[in-house]
Amino acid sequence: MKESFEPFVKLISLMVSLLLIVATFTALVIGTVLYISEGGKLPRISFVEKTSPLPVSEEPDFMALASSEGMWTSPDWSLVEQEANADLIKYGRELIANTSEYLGPNGKVMKISNGMNCQNCHLNAGTAPLGNNYAAVSATYPKVRARSGQSEDIPKRINDCFERSLNGEGLPVESKEMQAMVAYMEWLGKDVPKGETPKGAGIYAVAFLERPANPVAGKRVYDNQCASCHMEDGQGVLRFDGLGYTYPPLWGDHSYNDGAGLYRMSRFAGYVKANMPLGATYERPMLTDEQAWDVAAYVNSMARPAKDISNDWPDISKKPVDHPFGPFTDQFTEEQHKYGPFKPIQEFKAMAKN
Ligand code: HEC
Ligand code: HEC
Repeated sequence: MKESFEPFVKLISLMVSLLLIVATFTALVIGTVLYISEGGKLPRISFVEKTSPLPVSEEPDFMALASSEGMWTSPDWSLVEQEANADLIKYGRELIANTSEYLGPNGKVMKISNGMNCQNCHLNAGTAPLGNNYAAVSATYPKVRARSGQSEDIPKRINDCFERSLNGEGLPVESKEMQAMVAYMEWLGKDVPKGETPKGAGIYAVAFLERPANPVAGKRVYDNQCASCHMEDGQGVLRFDGLGYTYPPLWGDHSYNDGAGLYRMSRFAGYVKANMPLGATYERPMLTDEQAWDVAAYVNSMARPAKDISNDWPDISKKPVDHPFGPFTDQFTEEQHKYGPFKPIQEFKAMAKN
């Protein structure tokens, strides 16, 4: 009985060992192929990607613009009730978010601005990191600004935006509306030490291109990625009640004028790089640097209201490289000051200083 089984047992163990050898060989071949196809590096293990703090994508253009570590965040809104002037602060935030309802063409308090809201450009009522927020306002004003050549306090700076970005008139400094906006900005910056500009304040600085920004290429970006909301004619979409915009205009009679911050290419490119199309953030930008500059060139080459800025920049040597109106202290044309390339202007300015 025992003897008759022996050949079977031998055969089975022979087959098992053969199978093992084949399996090991296959594993070796697969391993080697993988190793070579990864360029000699071991394939990445997925948890490495999950725990890494930064980017989303391997393409440098779409990587986070900054790490979230140390980024300014606004004070907790639910704690505002603890402030003695809570009502004023809340009114200030409401005016920033819904400016047009109170102060627009049909405003219920005054009619002094173009229908836009401060929040259209100062996202989330001026609290979004790299969303043109008010993080540095209470800590850095009053300050001397080269555009006016004067020391500006917060009300003066707010009225700058009324007269330029909202193409309107300034608020009386003693008005409740002005006091409310100032109270809100002071509350936002209450934890920022005097004189300091926190990380993520204001607008992102997009690297300069080696070439001029190109409005023709920018029109393609605009048609593909902006026109669905801001409309092909750039006029945006009015809210059903006409008291404000669902999608604000980017040029034309109801847009910012040519004395406004966004009319400078670096401000526009930096704002859209970190915030547009709607849904983009500094952690998940959606435009390449080139697209941001080119779309800035397209939008800022369209018609918009003009402002008398003959009193701006009393010291013309202080004009920023992308201020598009002469006279300048350098030989570069208005065209180059508008579209770039900006590096040669920057280098010239640096030399002139020494
Ligand atoms: C069309 C866009 C736009 C609108 C609308 C707008 N602003 Fe501005 N605002 C800007 C830009 C651009 C800057 C300059 C940011 C920079 O240079 O970093 C700015 C700067 C400011 C600053 C100074 C920030 C700082 O840190 O120095 C204040 C304060 C301000 N705006 C208040 C307002 C208020 C209040 C309103 C509404 C009445 C308003 N803005 C509406 C675009 C706008
Ligand atoms: C999905 C809709 C949507 C798309 C797409 C979009 N935007 Fe906007 N955009 C908005 C909204 C909404 C606001 C105002 C935000 C707010 O009030 O909170 C805005 C605000 C702006 C502003 C500041 C306000 C103004 O009117 O001057 C600029 C500049 C801007 N967008 C440029 C662009 C550009 C450039 C693109 C394409 C690259 C783009 N947007 C794509 C919805 C959009």
